[in-house]
Amino acid sequence: MKKALILASLFLSLVILILFIQGSTPNWAQYQREYFKEQAVRLQAQLNSTKDTAKRTQLQQEIKSLQNRKPEVIDLVLPNGNVERCKTCHIGIEEISSSHPSNTFGCVACHGGNPLSLDKATAHDQMYGGGHPGSLNAVSLSCGGKAENGMSCHSGNQETAKNEVDLVKTSIMSTKAGELSVVRRMFGFDKTNEVPGLVKGQSAALYPNPLQGQPNQKAFQQNCLSQCHQNGGEIPAFPTPDNHSLQGSQTGVKSQTENKITANGCEVCHVLTNPMHTYIGTDTTMRSADLGWGMTHSLTTQIPYTQCNQCHNQGNHDPLKMSFAFRSDMTKVISDWKSGDTNYLDRVKDYYLPGEIFAQCEVSLDCIDCHTRQDVMGDNLLHTSQYDAVHLQCQDCHGTKNTLPKTKKIVTPKDLAFEEQLTNPKFPVLKLGDEILVTGKGEELPFIRHEGNSWLQTSRVTGKTFNIPLVYGSTCQQSLLEQGADSCHKCHDRSAAHP
Ligand code: HEC
Ligand code: HEC
Ligand code: HEC
Ligand code: HEC
Ligand code: HEC
Ligand code: HEC
Ligand code: HEC
Repeated sequence: MKKALILASLFLSLVILILFIQGSTPNWAQYQREYFKEQAVRLQAQLNSTKDTAKRTQLQQEIKSLQNRKPEVIDLVLPNGNVERCKTCHIGIEEISSSHPSNTFGCVACHGGNPLSLDKATAHDQMYGGGHPGSLNAVSLSCGGKAENGMSCHSGNQETAKNEVDLVKTSIMSTKAGELSVVRRMFGFDKTNEVPGLVKGQSAALYPNPLQGQPNQKAFQQNCLSQCHQNGGEIPAFPTPDNHSLQGSQTGVKSQTENKITANGCEVCHVLTNPMHTYIGTDTTMRSADLGWGMTHSLTTQIPYTQCNQCHNQGNHDPLKMSFAFRSDMTKVISDWKSGDTNYLDRVKDYYLPGEIFAQCEVSLDCIDCHTRQDVMGDNLLHTSQYDAVHLQCQDCHGTKNTLPKTKKIVTPKDLAFEEQLTNPKFPVLKLGDEILVTGKGEELPFIRHEGNSWLQTSRVTGKTFNIPLVYGSTCQQSLLEQGADSCHKCHDRSAAHP
C-alpha cells in the first residue's frame, strides 16, 4: 500500500515536471527541434539508398550534427545593419528566389511584421496581406515598395513594363470587366462593350447595381463577379481524389461554398500550387496551417498551364442561372495535376474543356509560351472585353500566305528581352544581334528566335524546343482576311483526341 502511494506520488511529480519543462520551452525551440528531426529523417532515407562510402560518411556526419544541434535564437543581420529574427521560428523556410536572396532582402521587406519579436502574435502583427504579400490590396507595400537604397521595386519605374504592381491591378483578370460587360450586354443594358461609369482598375465585383436591380443581381455578384479573379476572388481548392470525393462538387451551384480559397494577386501565378493548395515544404511552423498556400516558399516565372487553369478551363458558367458547373472529367484533371502530365495525349485530355477545339500547338505549348507579358499582366488600359485585351494572334508566330512573322534584332543590352535571362533557367542564351519574334502590336517574344530559315521556339516552362511551321510557302487554304483563331480552327482541329 505504502509502496503504491510512493510510486503514485513519484509518477505525479514526473508528470508535473514534464508539463513544467514543456511550458517553459519556447515555441521557437520546438519548431527548430521538429525541423532538425525532419531533416535527419530525410538524410537517413538518403543514407539507406546510398552505396557510395564517401557519401555515406558525409551523410552520417550530417545526421549526427542535426541530432546534436541545440535550438538557438537566429539573428539575420541585413547589409543595412537591421536584425530580423523571423527565422528563429521559420528556420526551415525555403529561399524565395535567387533574385531576392534572404541575406539581403530579409523577410520584412516583403511581409512586414515585427522582426525582433519572438512571440508569434506580435511578430505577425500587421503583416502585409495577412501573410500574402502579393494580394492586390497589400502589394503596393510589398512588391511595389522601395528598397533601402531608394530603388523602386515593381512600381514607380520609368519603364511602364516594369511596374507590374500597377499593371496587374488594372488587368482584366483582376477587374473582371469583361464578364460584367458581356452579361450586361446580354441583358440589353449596354449596346457596346463599354460599361458606363466603370473606373480603370475598379473591381467589377464593386460595380454598383450591375444588373439594374434584376432578381438575380445578387447571385451574379456572389457566384460570378466575385469568383476566380486575381483581386481576392475565390477559387476552388480540390480535395485529393483518394481521401475525398468530388461528387458533391460536380453538381455545380452547391460547390461554390466548398473549400474556397482566395486568389492573391501576384502569388496566384508566381507561386506554384497543388490542387489542394497546401504547403509541403520544410518550414515546420506551417504543419498545421490552413489551405491556401503554394507548395513551397518559391517564386517562379516558369508558370505551367495547370497554374493558369486554377481559373481557366475549369467548367461552364450558366449566365442565366448565375451558376457554375465543373467539367465532367474534373477528377481525372485533378489527379493528373497531382502526378504531372507525361505526354502530349495526357495534356490533350486535361488542357481544355471537353468539346473545345484547338490546334496542336495550343496543347504542346504552355499558355505563357504564347500569351505575352501584357496579355497576362496587363497593359495599363481599361479593357472591357477579353478580345480587346489579348495582344496575340495566330499569325504572329505563323505569318500568313503573304507574310513572314515579324522579327526584331537585339541591339542594346538594356532590351527588356534580357530580363528573363535572370529568372528563367530555360531561357536560351541571348546575344546582341540575335533576332527575336515580335507580335503585331510590337511586343517581344524573346523565347522565339529566327535562325537561318527557321523560327525556333523554346518553351518557357518545359524547355522543349519546337520548329514553328509557317503558312508562307505551305498549302494552307486560309483567307488573308480571316485571321481569327475561330477561322483557323475550322480546318486545324486536333480535338478528336478529346471530343
Ligand atoms: C514565435 C514563432 C514565430 C515567429 C517569431 C514568427 N513566426 Fe511566422 N509563423 C509562426 C507559426 C507557428 C506559423 C504557422 C501558422 C500559424 O500558426 O499562424 C507562422 C506563419 C507565418 C506566415 C504564414 C501566414 C500565416 O498566418 O499562416 C508568414 C507569412 C509568416 N509566419 C511570416 C513571419 C515573419 C515575416 C516573421 C518575422 C517578422 C515571423 N513570421 C515570425 C511562428 C512564428
Ligand atoms: C520577395 C518577397 C519575399 C521575401 C523576401 C520573403 N517572403 Fe515569405 N512569402 C512571400 C510570398 C509571395 C508568400 C506567399 C506564398 C504563397 O502564396 O504560398 C510568402 C509566404 C510565406 C510563408 C507561408 C508559407 C509559404 O511558403 O507559403 C512563410 C512562413 C513565409 N513567407 C516566411 C518568410 C520568412 C521567414 C522570410 C525571410 C527569411 C520570407 N518569408 C521572405 C514573399 C516573400
Ligand atoms: C485568379 C484567376 C486567374 C488566373 C490564375 C489566371 N487567369 Fe487569365 N483570366 C481570368 C479571368 C477572370 C479572365 C477574364 C476576365 C473577364 O473577362 O472579365 C481572364 C482572361 C485571360 C485572358 C484574356 C484577356 C487578356 O488579358 O489577354 C488571357 C489571355 C488569360 N486570361 C491568360 C492567362 C494565363 C496565361 C494565365 C496563367 C499564367 C492566367 N490567365 C491565369 C482569371 C485568371
Ligand atoms: C499556341 C498558342 C496559345 C496557347 C498555348 C494558348 N493560347 Fe490563349 N490564345 C492564343 C491566341 C492566338 C488567342 C487569340 C485568338 C483569336 O484570334 O481570337 C488566344 C486567346 C485566348 C483568350 C481570349 C478568349 C478566347 O477564348 O479567345 C484566353 C482567355 C486565352 N487565350 C487563355 C489561354 C489560357 C488560359 C491558355 C493555357 C491554358 C492558353 N490561352 C493557351 C494563343 C494561345
Ligand atoms: C507563340 C507562337 C505560336 C502561336 C501564337 C501559335 N502557334 Fe501554332 N505552332 C507553334 C509551334 C511551336 C508549332 C509546332 C508545335 C508542335 O510541334 O507540337 C505550331 C504548330 C501549328 C500547326 C501545325 C500542327 C497542327 O496543329 O496541325 C498549326 C496548324 C498551328 N500551329 C495553328 C495555330 C493556330 C490556329 C494558332 C492560333 C490559335 C496558332 N497556331 C498560334 C507556335 C505558335
Ligand atoms: C496571370 C498571371 C500573372 C500574374 C497575376 C502576375 N504575373 Fe508576373 N509574370 C507572369 C508571366 C507569365 C511572366 C513571364 C513572362 C514574361 O515576362 O513575358 C511574368 C513575369 C514577371 C516579372 C519579370 C520577370 C522576368 O524575368 O522577366 C516580374 C518582375 C513579375 N512578373 C512581377 C509580378 C508582380 C509584382 C505581380 C503582382 C503585382 C505579378 N507579376 C503578377 C504572370 C503573372
Ligand atoms: C480552309 C481550311 C484552312 C483554313 C481556314 C486554315 N488553314 Fe492552315 N492549312 C490548311 C491546309 C490544308 C494545310 C496544309 C496541310 C496541313 O499541313 O495541315 C494548312 C497548313 C497550315 C500550316 C502549316 C502546317 C505545317 O505543318 O506545315 C500552318 C502553320 C497553318 N496552316 C496555319 C493556319 C492558321 C494560323 C490559320 C488561320 C489564320 C489557318 N491555317 C487557316 C487549311 C486551312
